[in-house]
Amino acid sequence: MKGFILEKLQKKDIPEAANFERRLICSLSLYKPKARTDWSRELTPRGLQKQLNRGAVVFVIKNEGGKIMGFISYYPYPKNGVGWIDWVLVDPNFRRKGLGKLLIKQVMNFAKKHGEHVVWNDTLKINYKSIGLFKKLGFAKLGLFKNAWYHQDYYLWYRST
Ligand SMILES: CC(C)(COP(=O)(O)OP(=O)(O)OC[C@H]1O[C@@H](n2cnc3c(N)ncnc32)[C@H](O)[C@@H]1OP(=O)(O)O)[C@@H](O)C(=O)NCCC(=O)NCCS
Repeated sequence: MKGFILEKLQKKDIPEAANFERRLICSLSLYKPKARTDWSRELTPRGLQKQLNRGAVVFVIKNEGGKIMGFISYYPYPKNGVGWIDWVLVDPNFRRKGLGKLLIKQVMNFAKKHGEHVVWNDTLKINYKSIGLFKKLGFAKLGLFKNAWYHQDYYLWYRST
């Protein structure tokens, strides 16, 4: 796909990024209503700033007009060498064009340079799109985490950088 930029989240883009994150996550009917209600409260510009203050690294993909089309949040732990991918989100109008793959690759490169030798994450057991994405990029299944966050089942995945 042409005509886009992939960059680290800039301060000026926090309100739009938070809005994007909330809109995409809260419209995912795969998650329990209680989860989505909680997230809709937390995913505000202030909430995103808090994530950044806690060490989250966020990359976004913007189109030529500067509109956000993709988002990934990552928590690096260079001291112990393990990083965690939190959310990867692509605007429904731009899916299946390789943007999800690009965002994960960006994080894997960042992680390697930054000192993490392995990255892990989860996917909801019923989220076949997300499962397809991580499998495609060579992530291995660690196992099934049953009755986990909000009483839903998750697969855990990991990959060396
Ligand atoms: C999961 C998500 C990020 C994928 O983004 P994307 O830009 O469409 O992904 P890509 O185009 O890079 O696809 C990469 C691979 O993922 C898999 N995949 C993506 N969408 C898929 C779908 N609808 N069905 C099956 N496999 C799919 C495929 O293996 C695909 O490779 P291919 O196109 O060569 O077959 C996107 O669907 C999304 O934002 N979903 C909602 C949010 C979400 O569930 N995020 C994950 C929770 S952390």
